[in-house]
Amino acid sequence: MGILLIVSLLLGALVLLAAASQMKKVAGKAKDTGLLDAKGTHLPIQNVAWAVVLLMLASLVLVISRFDSPFGSSATGVDSLTANAKSGTTQQGKDDLWHGPDESTMPAGEAGELVKYGKELIAHTSKYLGPKGSVKAISNGMNCNNCHLDAGTRAWGNNYAAVYSAYPKFRERSGSTETIYKRVNDCFERSLNGQPLDTNSKEMKAIYAYIQWLGTGTARGGKPKGTGIVELAYMDRAADPEKGKAVYVAKCQSCHQAEGQGTLNMEKTEYTYPPLWGKNSYNHGAGLYRLSRFAGYVKANMPLGATHQSPQLTDEEAWDVAAYVNSQPRPGKDLSADWPKIAAKPIDHPFGPFADGFDENQHKYGPFGPIKKKRNLQK
Ligand code: HEC
Ligand code: HEC
Repeated sequence: MGILLIVSLLLGALVLLAAASQMKKVAGKAKDTGLLDAKGTHLPIQNVAWAVVLLMLASLVLVISRFDSPFGSSATGVDSLTANAKSGTTQQGKDDLWHGPDESTMPAGEAGELVKYGKELIAHTSKYLGPKGSVKAISNGMNCNNCHLDAGTRAWGNNYAAVYSAYPKFRERSGSTETIYKRVNDCFERSLNGQPLDTNSKEMKAIYAYIQWLGTGTARGGKPKGTGIVELAYMDRAADPEKGKAVYVAKCQSCHQAEGQGTLNMEKTEYTYPPLWGKNSYNHGAGLYRLSRFAGYVKANMPLGATHQSPQLTDEEAWDVAAYVNSQPRPGKDLSADWPKIAAKPIDHPFGPFADGFDENQHKYGPFGPIKKKRNLQK
């Protein structure tokens, strides 16, 4: 479409130039026949023609710069949207990020049914396992999908690209080697503020099968580009809940609501807009309660429609809105067994005791730079 426009404009310019040279001849002949202006000088017909050509070239440049890139990106944007509508795991446009395997590679038969059920449970957890869940009521009404976008296949959408390839692995939070089952139940007990799923249940087996299938293309220990959550650079200052409130009101509240409570769908089986705080939200032992996890997740994914490639928040806005949301009330959890090795607590883990001498407030809101610097020196 852009190319057609350019070609026709160029053709137009050529026609004009040809016309101008014709006119010049005509003007020459007209010298004595009165084609003169009032002062008796010749009409600068050729100059006028050149001016028109230049004008057209200038507008051409404008047209190219204004429309060409949006043409390109909106075309791929639409492609990826329709691709996503068909399946959460198809390639989104052409980039080097991980987007999950193609659904056509799902195993056949019973094994494939289990993988599909696993995907369904990630996408619509609440329907099966929420407060009115058809299988068992063990969680707060959120879906795994609310934080692991496109059923864990979105690049930089907290995806599962490197789960099957990494677990079992040692994690400092529990001080033990964790299986995928344990890690999934971590999110049930923290992000979904609920109870763990029985490892032998069909539901856990399905979630495992889905995560395994998602990770089949990732080599052991591998981490494709776009895995998980982006790491934002630390700010020099502490994140500011007051500034974050302004961001929240302007850019989040329309969906997540004034009290952070979100909105349920018509059937009340799951959230249309999930809660960000309050009794139905993640508890303070969840990953998103750490500022860096929240800020990184939101920067690449929120407001809904934002992507890593076209974010809608500055880094500062992401940090500040994280500070605001995570200073609001939410469910608690007994965390006394977490981080058996105190020195291994992440910089933005907001509960003491700490081995580095900084207080809880600075571990929650920053500035994080000085903590990092001191820890590096202690190493
Ligand atoms: C409120 C947000 C939220 C919800 C809901 C949620 N999670 Fe998570 N999950 C996270 C965060 C944050 C992390 C940690 C990511 C990081 O540290 O980079 C995580 C990590 C994980 C991991 C480990 C990822 C890795 O690469 O190591 C798995 C597996 C996982 N979640 C599964 C689930 C499942 C299954 C559900 C639904 C039962 C779920 N999560 C619901 C926020 C959430
Ligand atoms: C247009 C509506 C919309 C806007 C605006 C919006 N979100 Fe969301 N948000 C959603 C939806 C929908 C989801 C769940 C996505 C899914 O399940 O696919 C979500 C999920 C989230 C989650 C993870 C799930 C949870 O509830 O903890 C966080 C955190 C979040 N949004 C933060 C924000 C922040 C911060 C802003 C403002 C900068 C924002 N959102 C703006 C619609 C919106």
